Amino acid sequence: MRRRVRCAAGNRRPSAAMGGTSMSENKTAQEARIADRGRYADGRTRQIAVADDDGTPLLIIEPITVGALEWQPADNSADSPIRLSRFAYLHRDGADMVLSTPRSRVTAVIRDERVAAFIAGLGVARRPTTLAALSRLSAEACLRLADALRAVHLVTGAEPDCEEDDTIPQTWEFHDLLLHERSRRPKVGAINEPPRFGIVPEHQEPEWDLQAGELALPAVDLRAVAAADPPYGQVVLSRESHRDYSGPELALKQLAVLLARSLGPIERDALPGTGTDIMWSRPYASAGALFETDVVVIAHRVTGLAQGAYLYRPGAHALRPLEGDPASIDGLLFDASQATAAGIQRPQALLVMAARFPDLAIKYDGIAYSLMLKNAGWIQAAIQGAATAMGLGSVPIGTGDAVAFELATGLDRYRHGSTGEIAISVPRVQPS
Ligand SMILES: Cc1cc2nc3c(=O)[nH]c(=O)nc-3n(C[C@H](O)[C@H](O)[C@H](O)COP(=O)(O)O)c2cc1C
Repeated sequence: MRRRVRCAAGNRRPSAAMGGTSMSENKTAQEARIADRGRYADGRTRQIAVADDDGTPLLIIEPITVGALEWQPADNSADSPIRLSRFAYLHRDGADMVLSTPRSRVTAVIRDERVAAFIAGLGVARRPTTLAALSRLSAEACLRLADALRAVHLVTGAEPDCEEDDTIPQTWEFHDLLLHERSRRPKVGAINEPPRFGIVPEHQEPEWDLQAGELALPAVDLRAVAAADPPYGQVVLSRESHRDYSGPELALKQLAVLLARSLGPIERDALPGTGTDIMWSRPYASAGALFETDVVVIAHRVTGLAQGAYLYRPGAHALRPLEGDPASIDGLLFDASQATAAGIQRPQALLVMAARFPDLAIKYDGIAYSLMLKNAGWIQAAIQGAATAMGLGSVPIGTGDAVAFELATGLDRYRHGSTGEIAISVPRVQPS
């Protein structure tokens, strides 16, 4: 694909070879206009401050990671048409109104509401100086704002092949790039800081006791189950997704074995220095060993279990019935059928991953959501591996509905929300 030569990130001046004399002069003038630039002793940019003509602050651009602010002068002339980047977003952060973007590791703190009017005017392509009347800023202040915002990709050129469209494939939607960029950056601060937000996570030690109203599942001897399993290599080779739900009911015992072997607590030797002999892990890895993700069984055709939603409690090996809207239960099963092109047949059971998001977020600043999705993938893999070993059918699903899950289960989607699903079935013909 054709790519234009662009100035590398950082605050290097463009060389004459990159743009010819007139463009270099242009860029030098732009750099000069971004005059009020905080610098480190070694000359790297610490922040860009844009001031009004009388020196009062309009906008402060700061890095959101430790280190220098990355910026680059724009390619074209100061008053050429610009528009807001399709990735820029305005939001409140504490007492500040800030303009942010996943395109660069910066945040722009708005110090004067006329700047918000200037930004609002950039929903369509405009020359910066034409925004003076709308924003009640001077033409010079508009040029300074435009230069600073362009330097950190908060605004972009308005030509059809502008730098932004050239650099970032159209397939990147705003929310995808935001999640990607924000969760793939060096963490600010140490990993094992004290919990953030003052939230105390739920017990990480499994809770062994059966609570009132819970259904004890048939006991499972995991060692005996493992001894009778096909070899691991055979399980890996025969793993595949099944989307035919026309087979017999799933027996309660089968469900109990599937849940115990893919989610049940596993005793391990404790790590040195923890002051204890044993620790509890699971058959799958989980970021920070927080195991914030639970599994909710949406039962459809499970022998001896009424259609409904049940939270699996691994320590007690029990199902806790959840109170929800019956129509939404059927909605979840219907959605699973739709997602797997299974026509009107619902899967025998749908296992939904439900994450206690705050428990993970208190430890992992900024990357918690992406870790939660990775953890959901680990659980899907553990369940599909176990289902394969048992001769059950399974298919992971990537299109769940968190609102429907909240209605179906009564679980608060901000504290215990769905992050992934896997449909379980009993094949008509056992896989060979
Ligand atoms: C994250 C994820 C989401 C998926 N979502 C769906 C889905 O919504 N519908 C579906 O029929 N299959 C879904 N699948 C299953 C894939 O289509 C399947 O794994 C792929 O076609 C390879 O086939 P195999 O699993 O039989 O080897 C998903 C798989 C993963 C890992």
